[in-house]
Amino acid sequence: MSAVALSSGDHAAAPSPATALRSGPLSGGVTVPGDKSVSHRALILGALAIGETPITGLLESEDVLSTAKACAALGARIERVGAGEWRVRGVGIGGLRTPEAPLDFGNSGTGARLMMGMVAGSPIDALFDGDSSLRRRPMRRILDPLEKMGVSVAEAAGDGRLPIRLKGPRDLIPITYESPVASAQIKSAVLLAGLGAPGETTLIEREASRDHTERMLAHFGADVRVEPYGAHGRKVTLRGRPELKPAPIAVPADPSSAAFPLVAGLIVPGSAITIKAVMTNPLRSGLLKTLKEMGASIELLCERVEGGEVVADLRVRHSALTGVDVPAERAPSMIDEYPILAVAASFARGATRMRGLSELRVKESDRLAAVAAGLAQAGVVHSIAGDDLLVEGSGAVPGGGTVATHMDHRIAMSFLILGLASDKPMKIDDISFVATSFPTFVPLMARLGAVIEVAS
Ligand code: S3P
Repeated sequence: MSAVALSSGDHAAAPSPATALRSGPLSGGVTVPGDKSVSHRALILGALAIGETPITGLLESEDVLSTAKACAALGARIERVGAGEWRVRGVGIGGLRTPEAPLDFGNSGTGARLMMGMVAGSPIDALFDGDSSLRRRPMRRILDPLEKMGVSVAEAAGDGRLPIRLKGPRDLIPITYESPVASAQIKSAVLLAGLGAPGETTLIEREASRDHTERMLAHFGADVRVEPYGAHGRKVTLRGRPELKPAPIAVPADPSSAAFPLVAGLIVPGSAITIKAVMTNPLRSGLLKTLKEMGASIELLCERVEGGEVVADLRVRHSALTGVDVPAERAPSMIDEYPILAVAASFARGATRMRGLSELRVKESDRLAAVAAGLAQAGVVHSIAGDDLLVEGSGAVPGGGTVATHMDHRIAMSFLILGLASDKPMKIDDISFVATSFPTFVPLMARLGAVIEVAS
């Protein structure tokens, strides 16, 4: 066992263009890497537990390594013992130490926002920072509830953007907070802060967002109650100051990464592929539901529980897709999947309307604008109406352009997938950010028969 040299989350400054070419039928079986959301949470809760948490299947991507490095800077001992196999020795709630240097989260909104909640429970101060994409993203949504709990906030520019310094109070105030947006990051930050407060902290969300934090808190022995709230919402109540007990975590395969080979299998003629052991948590399955409504041939085989989450093998066959209307209330369960859904919709026949996408404007890039610009490059008829995206599919896509990826991994992967089935090759300006979530994307797609050329 050896302590790992943790990367800083930065990568090569020079952009690395890539091109996807029309490919023959895709075939074979693959396993995509571990879930990014679960991986961040495993490190964070491991760092707050007392004792050693063993993790298997951890996603070893830049975003997750930034979180590992930040947890280590706060006093946890983080070790890599094998591929995807890690051990975290935690310091207990309230036991974090002031880091010697700024915490650099690279491109990762999840790491930065969840760890803002995490540090609130210790009387330390920490400076949060990230790359130029993360420095553009709104943090007020996290600072508002944390300030209500007594956290002191110093913003470099006063605009709710990183760099931001936080100082946890001696006595955190438990609150009841209704989140203005359906966001698992806001929910998780409030709950992680609530760990350090006496009494009950309650988070209300009008639309249910992914529930990995609640599930993992219960797995570590915290007292968490989840109740329905309104038609689609939830009320989550946590009793503060528990002693978190280390529990082994097996990270399931990431459905948001599986989405890329999945859509490739649907749009490349003649394809038949299997994506193994993909997490099918209902709060992450909006894409599967939508693609099935579009006529996709996706079978869920061998459904089973692994590491506390339901997983299944996805058997995917090339399918004739038709356009559908995607309701706004489905957005939280597929929020990261709209770029790749827009690609599937481009190959469908008829119109697909994706409703209520305002949150896409504040992701790693303005994804609504980036997807629209990419579709324009590919020759796909589309429009933006308010917060809705409309794609007019004609069953075939000309391709042929170059897509600006704006430091956004999901824009990069989505348009490479498009190029596997478009008439002309599709180029992207920079593939390097794929390493933030899916470092093995190119070799994994190549194993299925996809042709993606990366300029060296
Ligand atoms: C995430 C929540 C989502 C998602 C992100 C991961 C998480 O963000 O887009 O990729 O792990 O909690 P929001 O909470 O902003 O919706």
